[in-house]
Amino acid sequence: MSKVIKGGTIVAADRTYEADILIEGERIAAIGQNLSGDTVIDASDAYIMPGGIDPHTHLEMPFMGTTAAETWESGTFAAVSGGTTMVVDFVIPGQDGMLAALEEWENRATRQASSDYSYHMCVTDWSEQIFSDMAKVVDRGINTFKHFMAYKGALMVNDDEMFASFQRCAALGALPLVHAENGDIVAALQQKYIDAGIPGPEAHAYSRPPEVEGEATNRAIMIADAAGVPVYIVHVSCEQSHEAIRRARQKGMRVFGEPLIQHLTLDESEYQNPDWMHAARRVMSPPFRDKSHQDSLWAGLAAGSLQVVATDHAAFTSEQKTLGLDDFRKIPNGTGGLEDRMPVLWTRGVDTGRLTMNEFVAVTSTNIARILNIYPQKGAILPGSDADLVVWDPKLSKTISASNQKSIIDYNVFEGFKVNGLPRYTLSRGDVVWSHGQNDQPQPGRGKFVKRRPFPAVNQALSKWKEITAPRAVTRSAEHMPIGI
Ligand code: URP
Ligand code: ZN
Ligand code: ZN
Ligand code: ZN
Repeated sequence: MSKVIKGGTIVAADRTYEADILIEGERIAAIGQNLSGDTVIDASDAYIMPGGIDPHTHLEMPFMGTTAAETWESGTFAAVSGGTTMVVDFVIPGQDGMLAALEEWENRATRQASSDYSYHMCVTDWSEQIFSDMAKVVDRGINTFKHFMAYKGALMVNDDEMFASFQRCAALGALPLVHAENGDIVAALQQKYIDAGIPGPEAHAYSRPPEVEGEATNRAIMIADAAGVPVYIVHVSCEQSHEAIRRARQKGMRVFGEPLIQHLTLDESEYQNPDWMHAARRVMSPPFRDKSHQDSLWAGLAAGSLQVVATDHAAFTSEQKTLGLDDFRKIPNGTGGLEDRMPVLWTRGVDTGRLTMNEFVAVTSTNIARILNIYPQKGAILPGSDADLVVWDPKLSKTISASNQKSIIDYNVFEGFKVNGLPRYTLSRGDVVWSHGQNDQPQPGRGKFVKRRPFPAVNQALSKWKEITAPRAVTRSAEHMPIGI
């Protein structure tokens, strides 16, 4: 059974053109004029784009004394309904280590996922065991390792641990990812605001100013350079962090930056809302910033100094947020966006002229496919690519509301946003998994794990002007040695 998508305009990261797409089985078989297939998918007056890839989700993640409420089933269905056909979720090792955690994640994902998926492995400690497990993780098709510089006393790693892990990444052909916030300063500031009698969610923002993010981003980049490995900074929320990335790239380093759709469109005034729950629902790290930081992030996406827009989908219910009713430090950190990333970015980015359609495709799909080493299987519309496609209808619109979302969370941080541009159809490996207005249901278990191979041997930082190629001790005779000290 072949399918042909007819009458649409293909929008790729590098060009826009009119053509039909023939799909045989799970892949794109041909692109051209007047193609025919067993069934026809109508793309007239619509754009056909590579399915979105969200490289930053936390589905059913155990965190801060609870577990993120969004399930793999609801989360991946929310994803496809919004045009995202692949998610990459963070595996957090517990006491039994990386491989046991990976099994847990696999049990959930294989049974529930509607979309394709992959994982990043978190390095939250350092030991011989972790050193050797990292190689096994890479063998399992996972070429990225995440490091938290925040969450002191929990997930945070220190500089020596991060340096050791980065060197291991370099040796294995893996890419380190970093949550860059100075966890020591955050902890000190948190205590300061508690002591000052400010236990509410506004203090979450006060205790995580842009400086703590900028400092950690600079440090992560320098440590990566010392270890000889590229680095990817997750949830870049501010100019200070963006500036560090920009500067490193200008020097020739492979440093990547990922803003979130939330930081691009929501600002710090949310935490000043007199309704405790309104503010608590928006508690995430880093917190939302002011408009000047938003402008910096948008500019970075257009200029290419930032490459990817993600969601960091870590969705907790209102009830879970009340864990921090008396103390903002206990509010589970995280917000949602899987279903809304593409429509919100289209509306606030393409419709306003901040991004071209091609840049939209680059930052929602193609760039991350390249960074994760899965291009052109994903992120491309080419013969042989997986048929992960969105037929995007710029005339479809809606007002975002928790009352009609696919996410199982009882609120939506984009509530009331009017979006223009929605998927008419979403295809995952050739299957239509979403068609607008058709009351589609999740298809748990149809999603597949996407294996990601290690990077080629050029996995090294580029800023090294001069390598110490043959370190050796200097030979000194007795006359050049200090005497009698
Ligand atoms: O607040 C956030 N971002 N929660 C999820 C975990 C993380 O830091 O990415
Ligand atoms: Zn994080
Ligand atoms: Zn995250
Ligand atoms: Zn001498």
